[in-house]
Amino acid sequence: MYSLKILSEQEVAGFNEFTFPHYRSVLSKMSLGHRMVAVGAVLLRESVGLVFAELKETLRAAAIRSIAVAPQQRRIGIGTALLQRVELELMTRGCGVAEVIYMAGRPSTPAVESLLRKNGWPTANPRMMICTSDFDLLSRAPWMKLALPPAFEIFLWKELTACERADILECQAREKFFPEVLNPFAHEDLAEPACSFGLRYKGRVVAWCIVQQFDANTLRCGSLFVRKEFEAQGRAIALLARSIYATRDTGRSNFIFDVSFERPRMIRFVQRRMTPYLKSIRITNESRKKLTGECLAA
Ligand SMILES: CC(C)(COP(=O)(O)OP(=O)(O)OC[C@H]1O[C@@H](n2cnc3c(N)ncnc32)[C@H](O)[C@@H]1OP(=O)(O)O)[C@@H](O)C(=O)NCCC(=O)NCCS
Repeated sequence: MYSLKILSEQEVAGFNEFTFPHYRSVLSKMSLGHRMVAVGAVLLRESVGLVFAELKETLRAAAIRSIAVAPQQRRIGIGTALLQRVELELMTRGCGVAEVIYMAGRPSTPAVESLLRKNGWPTANPRMMICTSDFDLLSRAPWMKLALPPAFEIFLWKELTACERADILECQAREKFFPEVLNPFAHEDLAEPACSFGLRYKGRVVAWCIVQQFDANTLRCGSLFVRKEFEAQGRAIALLARSIYATRDTGRSNFIFDVSFERPRMIRFVQRRMTPYLKSIRITNESRKKLTGECLAA
């Protein structure tokens, strides 16, 4: 019979094979006591499964980052037990809602979806479209030549003035004009200064395209945003094209671009105009579950 265990930071290393390489480093860096919860499954002293979740800053919500069971031990209830245990632990820590994000269209997707369904998770919705390409391919797209009228000025984001920065932050506090995931000041340590640009219209910042370092060969568009009144005019695309041109001289030829399904116009643009110039498109799905007393009963 297997057993479950809430893992300490030291113990989690023995379960590394059950998560993605990216999360291995997250797990080894972050203190498990505070924002991370990891539960391991052990059978005959062997590690056979891991689920881990990360609490959001408010500590009221959490994301289950990954769940996996050793192939030879599947379909005997370990996945269910791990999921229920982590839900219970999150509830005990005062968390009221959890989300799971997973890749659609993978061989493992039906198993993940059945596991979630069986444990009372609502049907997932598409969340993000993750597109990969490179400079050679993207540079052939006709929209790479989009021009801007003279009233617009593209500038390197690192040249944003202190006043402009304060203005953006003030406006955001007042009217929340951009979604938090597109905050241009988040993860500033990752920004690639040579490829991140802003757009001024008659002297006022109305758009930005922030490109981040993803790995040794890859840059990622971390935030592409244009103010509502300038949407659907090709302004953001012109800015994106400028960033893509700038990637040419960085030595990182691969480019990743994610689009949220909350931005249907951008999704349509990718489907209609970008697809021929992409190497791959992957879609992530998201399900959210309210954590209630039922988890305790289970
Ligand atoms: C998803 C996963 C964790 C399930 O683990 P598990 O220990 O097999 O899960 P359980 O035994 O508790 O199965 C629970 C239910 O999930 C469903 N399920 C599990 N594997 C399934 C499969 N291959 N096909 C269809 N449904 C499946 C079934 O409804 C099952 O209930 P049942 O056996 O009574 O029919 C496991 O398949 C896995 O590790 N997959 C690869 C890792 C992965 O892709 N993780 C997702 C990244 S977040």
